Amino acid sequence: MKRMLIALAAAALAMPAQAQSPADDAAAMHAKVDGLIARMTLEEKIGQLEVLGDDYGKLDDLARAGKLSATNGVLNDRDVAKYTRHLQDMAMQSRLKIPLLFEGDVAHGYYTIMPVPLAMAATWDTALTTQVHRQAALEATASGVSWTFSPMLDIARDPRWGRIVEGAGEDPYLGAAMAIAQMKGFQGDDLSRPDTMMATAKHFAGYGAAQAGRDYNSADIPPRQFRDIYLPPFKAVADAGIGAVMAAFTAIDGVPATASRKLLTGTLRDDWHWPGLLVSDYDAIPELVTHGVAATPADAAAMALHAGIEMDLHSGIYLEQLPALVRSGAVPMAEIDAAVRHVLEAKWKLGLFADPYRYGDEAKEHDPALRAQSRAVARRAATESMVLLRNQGVLPLRKAGRIAVIGPMATATRDLEGQMPAAGDPARVVTMLAGVREAVAGKAQVSYAKGVDVTGDDVSGIADAVSAAKASDVAILVLGESVGMIGEGNSRAAIDLPGQQLALAKAVVATGTPVVAVIVSGRPLALPWLADHAQGLVYAWLGGDEAGHALGDLLFGDADFSGHLPVTMARALGQVPLSYDHLPTGRPGDQHSIYTSRYVDLPNTPLYPFGYGLSYTSFRYGEPRLDSATLGPGGTLHVTTRVTNTGTRAGAAVVQLYVHDEVASVSPPVRQLKGFERIALQPGESRDVGFTLTPADLAFTRRDMSWGTEPGRYTLYVGGDSTATRSAAFTLSPARR
Ligand code: BGC
Repeated sequence: MKRMLIALAAAALAMPAQAQSPADDAAAMHAKVDGLIARMTLEEKIGQLEVLGDDYGKLDDLARAGKLSATNGVLNDRDVAKYTRHLQDMAMQSRLKIPLLFEGDVAHGYYTIMPVPLAMAATWDTALTTQVHRQAALEATASGVSWTFSPMLDIARDPRWGRIVEGAGEDPYLGAAMAIAQMKGFQGDDLSRPDTMMATAKHFAGYGAAQAGRDYNSADIPPRQFRDIYLPPFKAVADAGIGAVMAAFTAIDGVPATASRKLLTGTLRDDWHWPGLLVSDYDAIPELVTHGVAATPADAAAMALHAGIEMDLHSGIYLEQLPALVRSGAVPMAEIDAAVRHVLEAKWKLGLFADPYRYGDEAKEHDPALRAQSRAVARRAATESMVLLRNQGVLPLRKAGRIAVIGPMATATRDLEGQMPAAGDPARVVTMLAGVREAVAGKAQVSYAKGVDVTGDDVSGIADAVSAAKASDVAILVLGESVGMIGEGNSRAAIDLPGQQLALAKAVVATGTPVVAVIVSGRPLALPWLADHAQGLVYAWLGGDEAGHALGDLLFGDADFSGHLPVTMARALGQVPLSYDHLPTGRPGDQHSIYTSRYVDLPNTPLYPFGYGLSYTSFRYGEPRLDSATLGPGGTLHVTTRVTNTGTRAGAAVVQLYVHDEVASVSPPVRQLKGFERIALQPGESRDVGFTLTPADLAFTRRDMSWGTEPGRYTLYVGGDSTATRSAAFTLSPARR
């Protein structure tokens, strides 16, 4: 009751300043924020610039003292809705009663764990991706979480980098589409709704290009590539209204993003006119000292604030350094006020001034119906995300006879949740083994042998695995990487199967029993041997709570494979970085001809190309038809292709459109994705799929570094992956002067 009274009193105090529909009410927002800034002490202002965890100090005291603005420490094992409500009570006891933001890394599900973002990108299904994050937002906001540090939009082309798992892969077009889809799921179209949360585009920018794939390492990205490849997903969500952006840890060309005014203020604010909230990465401000660009913590704090970082994440450095810096005149109050303004505006947009308790609903937090709904979405997402790479007639499997499930990942639970499991629980994960067992219950006999561990040299279990395979009609080999090998800080120097897993695979294949290899991993591993020797090869990623059910549905044909690779799969680490949109070079590679851009010991082609994925049915793509041979300034070009399901089962095709600029002022990529659509087709069914291109779709950073198009001839390709051969040509006519 007391808490309710406090809540009512707080709401009443704040009410006059925030209208019913706060997102629409900019004037009221500015009045409220101006009024608060005018009344705030320096300490209170700086208190608004901190996101602190409960390892910093007693959050209750900080909140009461008005020295806490947001906390990222909400997800530790506790009753989160109760906890967030309690801390908000503390903030309501502070002088100005400025509500707190509660942040959680809700990256792919909250209570219900969905497939990792790289797996979601493999669905090429933007509507489903939005739904996945919508469920996460429903669950997280019920716990009082109003802010997530997600989506991660870093383009990644190096599988060594463990965080490739958190993004949408190698391509800026797919990356931008997935970025918007994710943002929409979290934020909906009204941030102030109690079931939507503020999203954060991270890590701005170029973090995915960490040299040699080693996390936190410096990046070297030429300015043109930076703009054409690394920035587009960020630009897309900045235009679409993302609430927050997080700066990257990385230094590019010697300048850490956290200290780069050119990047943070120049690009985001001056060029893109983005009005949201800019937060540092975890301890990234004090790390400017270790980067060697700041001599002291005070320098670091001043430098980051001046660059544009408005909130410090975790270190407390703003709280500790900024008061003296402002008093000495080293940091202008105007910079503090500008930062505070964006923090308060974010709180306004979330509706927190109208009702600081609008997030958090204990009944909903434990609602079985919501959880059941999320699990259904998780199952569909996992099903759409798995990619069939090879099928020598072995799949779908029959629900009969004897089936051996072999391999250390078959019983994995925690590993399937990825590195950021939010409020997930490994006990809720359906293992691959359980999924297979359930799919064939009462119809086939399933045995299990681990064979080997994920890592280590112990091969003593291989003999049992071989016996299990010999005694079975088919072996399902579930191999991959454990959670400690992917995600933040977990870069690998090798990209093949760790430990003795390949030895296990070779021994099982040698039995002659047909083998379906299922790979559980958050990065595209190099699997040349399996690609040649296993009768079936499935890339299952880290599929979350429902991974096992999805695998069971797919392997036995209750569902069809429809996932397509969002990354190129290399044959070997030596080919990395490898992407489909490379430049032509003056001497395009021919493995058999010296003085070409080649390896003497490997073809240049990948093991599996970007966009690739098989199905139980087959599709035919018709020649692209254009409504005009010319695309004029301000005009559109409509491309249509007829897609036919030529098989005997229903299935979903991912129709992809690639464009190649034939001659430009800078060497143009061999092709670039410019459109895609996922369509379901019944056996024998044909459908026209259309794409519309405008000159803006063909813009790039030209030789003089200006952004725009160049007239000339273009070739476009349509098909089911990035090697598509159905093509047509058109001309882009010169822009008007
Ligand atoms: C990561 C961020 C993450 C933050 C908070 C950092 O180390 O780089 O992506 O949001 O921690 O957990």
